[in-house]
Amino acid sequence: MPDPQAKTRVLTGDTPTGSLHLGHFVGSIENRLEMQEKYDCYFFVANLHALTTRADDVPGVRADTLSIVKDWLACGIDPAKATLFLQSEVPAIAELTWYFGMLLGYGRLMKNPTVKDEIRIKNLGDNYSFGFLMYPVGQIADILAFRPAFVPVGEDQVPHIEMTREIARRFDQVYCDVAGETADADYEAAGGVFPVPEARVGRVARLTGTDGKNKMSKSLNNAIYLSDPPKQIRKKCNRIFTGRGTMDDPPVLEGNTVLEYHDAFNPDAARVQELRAAYAAGEIGDGAVKKELGDLLVALLEPIQERREKISDDEVIDILRDGTRKANEVAEQTLWAAKEAAKFDFFPRSLAIR
Ligand code: TRP
Repeated sequence: MPDPQAKTRVLTGDTPTGSLHLGHFVGSIENRLEMQEKYDCYFFVANLHALTTRADDVPGVRADTLSIVKDWLACGIDPAKATLFLQSEVPAIAELTWYFGMLLGYGRLMKNPTVKDEIRIKNLGDNYSFGFLMYPVGQIADILAFRPAFVPVGEDQVPHIEMTREIARRFDQVYCDVAGETADADYEAAGGVFPVPEARVGRVARLTGTDGKNKMSKSLNNAIYLSDPPKQIRKKCNRIFTGRGTMDDPPVLEGNTVLEYHDAFNPDAARVQELRAAYAAGEIGDGAVKKELGDLLVALLEPIQERREKISDDEVIDILRDGTRKANEVAEQTLWAAKEAAKFDFFPRSLAIR
């Protein structure tokens, strides 16, 4: 039974693929900053998932792991408020992957639209590894090991959360005798080991990339990174396609990526309205809205970059060690509860992180 006194738990993670970009910032990081004030938050680096496409570059994955935690800390994620941990050092996650993998149909997995998109976008053809197909199952385990109420993610991750919800219900029905007609909110109260967690999509579900077309993403080379130096930020802003062929064409207002960024990043909504009106009336052109965007983004990112500079690798490792210790306490408890439910509880154990 859930403890009614306990703070609501939240869990999410990032795959370390390099530096975070503005899409991550409005899609997820902001959400975490808010949530760490209210909830019992677990944020982790999905370093095992990074191996799905980079098994031949483990040192690179390790470097990106530290780098992404620096990004979090620089953005204001606070280890005194949230537990930050490393996926690869929580063995209960890997073990739960086995149990959940048996409850998930292969056909169901292959119908997951995010899996299909990834195979297409990354040009994997049919050359993806067996482990690649394991990662969505692993993601179910990442989540359920912590029995969270909410999972803050970008829109593209929602299909994974949907699958997580299905597996939570299935486990609880198969091993805990929870009735099939139980409402999602009542699974734990009905005796289930797992809650049916909800996705929470950020303020801006999908940020367009600087190509003005696709979603901002590292693999499409259309991202502005949190670590981009001011000159680079301004250059990228100047190159954003506004949808206008030549300056003789009328200004494009719908689907104009420069205006989309003003909406997403300028906290001064009145100024954005003013800018939009002047742009629509032809009083100012593409150059002016791009220049103001550059200034805005530099002002947003400079303090983050200054904080980031001061964070050492050792500091990150210490934070992750403490967090991983705490994460293991929770995940071990969950795994044991799951094994007890499934009557696979042979030997209790303890686990120590050093
Ligand atoms: N797949 C997610 C991404 O690429 C990262 C991730 C792994 C995750 N496990 C998770 C996100 C669990 C939320 C919860 O962004």
